[in-house]
Order: sequence, then C-alpha cells, then structure tokens
Amino acid sequence: MIKRKNILKIAIDSPAAAGAGTLAKSISKHYNLIYLDTGKIYRFIAYLKIRYPKKFNNKFIKSKIKYLKIKDLENKFLLSDEVGTKASIIAKNKSLRKLVHTFQLNFAYNPPKKYKGSCLDGRDITYNIVPDADFKFYITANVKIRALRRYKELKKLNKLIKYEDVLKSIKKRDKSDQNRKISPLKKTKDSLLINTTNLNKRACFLKIKKIIDKKINI
Ligand code: C5P
Repeated sequence: MIKRKNILKIAIDSPAAAGAGTLAKSISKHYNLIYLDTGKIYRFIAYLKIRYPKKFNNKFIKSKIKYLKIKDLENKFLLSDEVGTKASIIAKNKSLRKLVHTFQLNFAYNPPKKYKGSCLDGRDITYNIVPDADFKFYITANVKIRALRRYKELKKLNKLIKYEDVLKSIKKRDKSDQNRKISPLKKTKDSLLINTTNLNKRACFLKIKKIIDKKINI
C-alpha cells in the first residue's frame, strides 16, 4: 500500500448517533481532509444482503467493494434503522471486516493529492485502522440524547417512527458493538474523550479545533 508522507490523520471512534459524523465532516472541511464514515461501508454491505440475498457471499461483497465509490455510500437507503441494525450484525464477521480493511487504509494513508490528510470515523479506527493517527477522539453522548438526535433524523425519512423504538435499537446496538469479540467499540487510552451531551455542533467543533490547533501550531 502507498502511504503519503506528512499528512494529517484524524481517527474517531464513537457509539451510534453521538454526533461524530457531523463533527468529523466539519473538521475535515476546515483542515481540508478527506472524510470517510466507515459505518457506511458496513451499512452498504447490509444493504447488499437485503437487496441480493441469494448472491450474498464474500466473493460477491469483494467484487462490490472493488468498485465502491464515495457516491455509493451517500445512498439514502443506507440511513434507515433497519440497515443500521443489520450492519452491526454483519460487522461481527471477521472475514467480512478483512474485505473492507484495505479500502479504509487507502483512504486513511493515501488520500488524493488535493487533500492535506484524512479523517475516518467508526468503531475500531483509533486502534485498528489508523493506530498511528495524529489525533484520536472518542466522541460520545448520553444514550437518551443520542436516541433523540437519531429519532429527529429518521423522522424525516419515516414519519411513523417512534422515539421509544429508536432508543431501544440504539441501546441494543451499543451492547452489540461494545461486547463483540472482533474489533469492539472502545475508548483507547490515547483517545481524547469528547462528550457532546450538552454541547451544540459549533461548540463541539471549536473544542476539537482548539485541541488540533494547539498541537499543529496554527
Ligand atoms: O456508524 P453507523 O451507525 O453507521 O455504523 C453501523 C454499524 O456498523 C455499527 O453499529 C457497527 O456495528 C458497524 N461498524 C463497525 N466498524 C466501524 C464502523 C461501523 O463495526 N468502523
């Protein structure tokens, strides 16, 4: 694998709906980094399983990952709670995780020249995908707040959705992501904890920006 030298690498891990995606996007834009929401890859694979149940095997997934483009990950079908739940089940599979490993490494270590670096968020980024990141963050928030945020997002796609169901589903996903054997969600010792429960988007962004600017001397 080609590794570009002197690039800025940011790694973020977080439980579902903690606001990591929004934050990572604004940070990436500010520092001109390529951004990858790695959860979307697992969601994409879950979607493939729903759409092509008969063809679904490692060979099929591999062929789809080979030509995977960021644009494919923007498909709004990937946002549903059903896909998120299926993604967390699929994500427990070691051989499947291996299939998407290289895709993520390429993003992290070899971003296109127009970018100054990369920012990835997910569950195992700080210790598995980009262990040598310049900055590592663990972004979290109270589970009820996370459920409320996710509920508001999902309400736009599905008017019938209920808050209680979203809360239940997020709790279930936390448990599954944290307790699985392969690449569980955890805060590594060298990650900075950012709790977004009582912070709005702007305040979160400024908090992270301050940490980064201090170290890179802007
Ligand atoms: O972040 P998001 O909710 O879109 O992720 C969907 C699921 O994909 C997570 O619940 C988790 O099980 C899985 N995932 C993972 N490793 C990552 C990112 C996501 O296992 N790096």
